[in-house]
Amino acid sequence: MSKKFKVLITREIPSNAFEILSKKCELEIFNKNEPISRSALKDLIRDKDGVICLLSEEIDKEIVDLGKNLRVISSYAVGYNNIDVEYATKKGIAVTNTPGILTDATADLAWALLLGIVRRIAEGDRMIRSTGFKGWGPLLLLGGDLYGKTLGIIGAGRIGAAVAKRSIGWNMKILYFDRNINSELERECNAKQADLDTLVSESDFVSLHLPLSEETHHLFNRKTLRQMKSSAFLVNTARGAIVEEKALIQALREKWIAGAGLDVYEFEPEVSEELLKLENVLLLPHIGSATKFTREEMARIAAENLLAVLEGNQPIAVVNPEVLEKS
Ligand code: GLV
Ligand code: GLV
Repeated sequence: MSKKFKVLITREIPSNAFEILSKKCELEIFNKNEPISRSALKDLIRDKDGVICLLSEEIDKEIVDLGKNLRVISSYAVGYNNIDVEYATKKGIAVTNTPGILTDATADLAWALLLGIVRRIAEGDRMIRSTGFKGWGPLLLLGGDLYGKTLGIIGAGRIGAAVAKRSIGWNMKILYFDRNINSELERECNAKQADLDTLVSESDFVSLHLPLSEETHHLFNRKTLRQMKSSAFLVNTARGAIVEEKALIQALREKWIAGAGLDVYEFEPEVSEELLKLENVLLLPHIGSATKFTREEMARIAAENLLAVLEGNQPIAVVNPEVLEKS
């Protein structure tokens, strides 16, 4: 049999990935129960033909240059803002990701955050654990309503559309901001495309579903947050830096908006101390795609993507297809 491909997996992921790869690859799994350090990544990438990496790892020029034999960077994520795709492309390295499969899990989590913050779920839980349940109260933990309200979707791709479709039971009006028209969404949810100013000023709930790029960095800043209704809620399950965290903290503290539900942070994994002090924000540790089924499917797709590129086949999803067309 021909020589095995040398592959690095930067963290323990569901084991179905190893089953797919182990026959044809010599696997090195950095399976410590913590993120791989920059120095370990620099060291371990040197002799590898391929790597399965996580969204928390910066795959920049330096890493790409160190990976002299590298032919594929298979990201265990849909978002790939952590990878210098342009440079990888220049070096003829394919970058693959796992879109589609995590759409429903992430849309569910956006709704969990939305319902959780509007109905003050975490506050209620904290109250019971700290002071106990003192009995039903007419003014206890009054929250907001969803029925018939307006939901603004920022980014009407797969995940944004899935979030919108879940609103049908609440008879919500859907506005969406996207450079493309999503006619399926318009048909199924009576959604209307809107410019950003209209969407943020008319929505009762705003949910973010854009990739992070130079264009979307700090798209939600003081100006945008000021335009929102003081009764409105913001949900972010996309990428932290789409929202200027400092401005959001001010908006929450000074009640420019009613509340926020966050799964992602501008300086992840750091969470601003200020956020921890606020009651009107619900905080989760980036678990949008964290269901057992979804993570196993992501592992399968990441493994199959990697192997396909190494064997000269077409991967399930590739971010820079031009690399494969050339070879
Ligand atoms: C999760 O945030 C992902 O991009 O997969
Ligand atoms: C991600 O899969 C998206 O297109 O929203």
